[in-house]
Amino acid sequence: MNNTDNYLLPLGYVIRQAKPSDMWLICLFIIRASLDASQLKWHQFWVIEYDGRLVAFGQLRNFEFAQELGSLFVVPTHRNQGLGTFLIQHLIAQSTQPLYLKCLKNKLGSFYAKKGFIPISYEELPVSLKSKFRLSQLRKTLLKAFVLFMKYEHPV
Ligand SMILES: CC(C)(COP(=O)(O)OP(=O)(O)OC[C@H]1O[C@@H](n2cnc3c(N)ncnc32)[C@H](O)[C@@H]1OP(=O)(O)O)[C@@H](O)C(=O)NCCC(=O)NCCS
Repeated sequence: MNNTDNYLLPLGYVIRQAKPSDMWLICLFIIRASLDASQLKWHQFWVIEYDGRLVAFGQLRNFEFAQELGSLFVVPTHRNQGLGTFLIQHLIAQSTQPLYLKCLKNKLGSFYAKKGFIPISYEELPVSLKSKFRLSQLRKTLLKAFVLFMKYEHPV
């Protein structure tokens, strides 16, 4: 979506597209962190390395007329230095369709809001994502679980 990719990675970190051999580690981190394990396709992932080791990753899931920013993860010892922010900026810049995400952690809502995502209702989601997120919406309405749907808005 041609967003300006204006964030810099801290010294020593490099970003690259994932390779098939990254997936066992990515899957392990995703399972451990209880993140959404759908569409774990290596070619949709970007990873950040430090000293030749994978320390962060995120992906763009593809749907009809939409993409979902997902699987965002930074290894705990490398957090709070902007890697998550950099990955979000990078995935925004790579996206080619309207971009959405689902957030299940209350404190992350404001984190994503600072990156340009705005809260939207379930009804505002495209049809393709409504079917994916139907269960989450049920958890939200029936169990009052924290579920926030967000859409990326280009800065004007
Ligand atoms: C959420 C997550 C990806 C954030 O990764 P991160 O690399 O720590 O994120 P950042 O460093 O970009 O931003 C986190 C905080 O670090 C601080 N920060 C950002 N850039 C910084 C920098 N250059 N130097 C120092 N601190 C910085 C900020 O306080 C920021 O919070 P804010 O933007 O809300 O003010 C990470 O905590 C994680 O992997 N969590 C577990 C998995 C998860 O919950 N994923 C999201 C699923 S929806």
